[in-house]
Amino acid sequence: MRKWREWAGPGIAFGGDYNPEQWPRETWDEDVVLMREAGVTFVSLGIFSWSHLQPAPDRWEFGWLDDAMDLLHANGVAVDLATATASPPPWFSRRFPETLPQRADGTRLWQGSRQAWCPSSTVFTEHATALAEKVATRYADHPALTMWHVSNEYGCHDVPCHCDTCAAAFRVWLLARYGDLDGVNEAWGTAFWSQRYGEIEEIVPPRTVPTFANPGQVLDYRRFQSDALLGQYRAELEVLRRVTPDVPVTTNFMTNDHFRHLDYAAWAEHVDVLSTDHYVVGALADPEAELAFTADHTRGLAGGDPWLLMEHSTSAVNWQPVNVAKRPGQMMRHSLGHVARGADALGFFQWRASRAGAEKYHSGLVPHAGTDSRLWREVVELGAVAGRLAEVRGSRVDAEVALLWDHHADWACDQEAHPSAEVRYGAVAHDLHASLRRQGVTVDVVPVSDAVTTTPDLTGYRVVLVPTLYLTSDATAAAVQAAADAGAHVVVTYFSGIVDERDHVRLGGYPGAFRDLLGVRVEEFAPVLPGVSLRLDGRLVAGAHGTTWAEDLTCTDAEAVTSFVDGPVPGVPAVTRRGLGGGEGEGTGAGAGGAAWYVATRLDPSGTDALTSRVLAEAGVAPVVPDVPVGVDVTRRRDGDRSWLFVVNHTDAEVTLDVSGHDLVTQRAVGAADEAAGLLRVAAGGCAVVREARDEAVAPEA
Ligand code: GAL
Repeated sequence: MRKWREWAGPGIAFGGDYNPEQWPRETWDEDVVLMREAGVTFVSLGIFSWSHLQPAPDRWEFGWLDDAMDLLHANGVAVDLATATASPPPWFSRRFPETLPQRADGTRLWQGSRQAWCPSSTVFTEHATALAEKVATRYADHPALTMWHVSNEYGCHDVPCHCDTCAAAFRVWLLARYGDLDGVNEAWGTAFWSQRYGEIEEIVPPRTVPTFANPGQVLDYRRFQSDALLGQYRAELEVLRRVTPDVPVTTNFMTNDHFRHLDYAAWAEHVDVLSTDHYVVGALADPEAELAFTADHTRGLAGGDPWLLMEHSTSAVNWQPVNVAKRPGQMMRHSLGHVARGADALGFFQWRASRAGAEKYHSGLVPHAGTDSRLWREVVELGAVAGRLAEVRGSRVDAEVALLWDHHADWACDQEAHPSAEVRYGAVAHDLHASLRRQGVTVDVVPVSDAVTTTPDLTGYRVVLVPTLYLTSDATAAAVQAAADAGAHVVVTYFSGIVDERDHVRLGGYPGAFRDLLGVRVEEFAPVLPGVSLRLDGRLVAGAHGTTWAEDLTCTDAEAVTSFVDGPVPGVPAVTRRGLGGGEGEGTGAGAGGAAWYVATRLDPSGTDALTSRVLAEAGVAPVVPDVPVGVDVTRRRDGDRSWLFVVNHTDAEVTLDVSGHDLVTQRAVGAADEAAGLLRVAAGGCAVVREARDEAVAPEA
């Protein structure tokens, strides 16, 4: 049950992590004055405050938190209150050294940083739930309490843990999954390399080994670690549900690609409000493309509902090799970029930049320079804009294209001893997403996972993208087939549908899970070395080429769209198309039958764009607004018959769009209603959120 509608009052929430324990009491008074000035509506309070709340095993100090809660409430700031269990105090690690996590090589991780606790530790569970119970009971009726924030970014630092506690818990998990040891032996293929287990106690985590570890063991260990942490979360959730059944509960995910330890599709079923943290990685070629992908992924996890951006940064972070500061206007663009893709809250880490500790060079809403600063002025401006977007809250993002994402496929794909270490899960997913973004088309990144009870229904989408879905369960393959049967265009890329959920190869020719749907059969993979470029004939687009991958492919019931000219398989199709049903060969667009496309190489951007534009045209998917320059993001949120068009201009040129309505950012009429202008003009680096004139908003066809 999702409770996001009940969360934190009206409008787009604006605020961030508040850690008053880092500051003297008099600073708090200044804090709330500044919060009011900036339009802060919520804070996440006390996330790392366990050692302040319980300074010794038998000592509790809640007075300071009482004061902070009262002060925030008196100043109209809602509190997303932490259960404060993210990092145990030093006394805890000293008293229970067995709770410290252990790396694969046996190294123990010491106290002195954060999150130094083992995911399987029941000692930790006991103390964390006791703290959660104390906090929940004390603040259950406090008027500032609006939501529970359980722990913080589970798994950020403490997985995988390979300690003996985890080993014992792993055995229990395995028996629950496979029934008995024979089941484990079969799933892991232990007939190979003399790995057959005779007793469950012989099984250990995949610790440092002489050469390649058993892939089934590695895959299951990742599943197990995700489940172990989910168990820790659910233990606290159970306490909160019991003490405060009506208060929504969340824990902040990390849905970006550099964190891949948790199966968030499984976790998402257990939060009332889906929240995530997102930090821009300065070294990426196109950081905003990654932001867009992650936001679309977060929305997918939320089942299309609005979600909360719990943390991002006003400017630089402190944990990248070089921490690039945001330039004027960038914080606004990043923030509205998230709202444009479904966020109903803009949270930051953290309210006040610390003056001591490991994160003192991380930006905050109040910078070291104080309020006489460009950054603070931008914060105040952003708060005002967030306030003006109140009516957008609760609306949903329009998208007609789905892109599948599966953590289990990721975990299985990125293992050792595969045909090519150059095949990285997510690379082609990002290629495709970036290509659609260049064409102004919004994508839902839809999570699939064997660990969830319901496979997503893909039948409402006109296009379904299946990039590198190496591990594909029968249920997922059936969901893709159902979408194709319903008329969608399905695009499957190389190294998809190869193994089942046990990481066993599907025999009879690749890609076993999609062979019939695609009408192709692959006898052998033919990956190419880094730097090798594979020329394609010009049928897709002149000059297109592939890298990374080729294969001995035969069309059994498909036509070649383009073929390799050189490389290991000259003359062999590199992209194929199988028309499906109804309108095949006759008209295109809405109502026509779909098609199953297969891509057997990593297409360069020109080839990718040529392919996706052809697929979109055949599927009848148009850009949100036509003729938008690359670098300008346009998305639409909709609520019944009302809609809002978001325009985020990342380029250094003004953009004009033929859109009419009322811009909530500039508070001006635009387009037809603005006779002087006639068009929406968005300045270089600027943003607009246009409440569309009702008769102008195009309702999607049923
Ligand atoms: C997040 C974390 C915050 C802070 C932030 C810095 O991972 O939740 O506590 O460390 O990163 O970017």
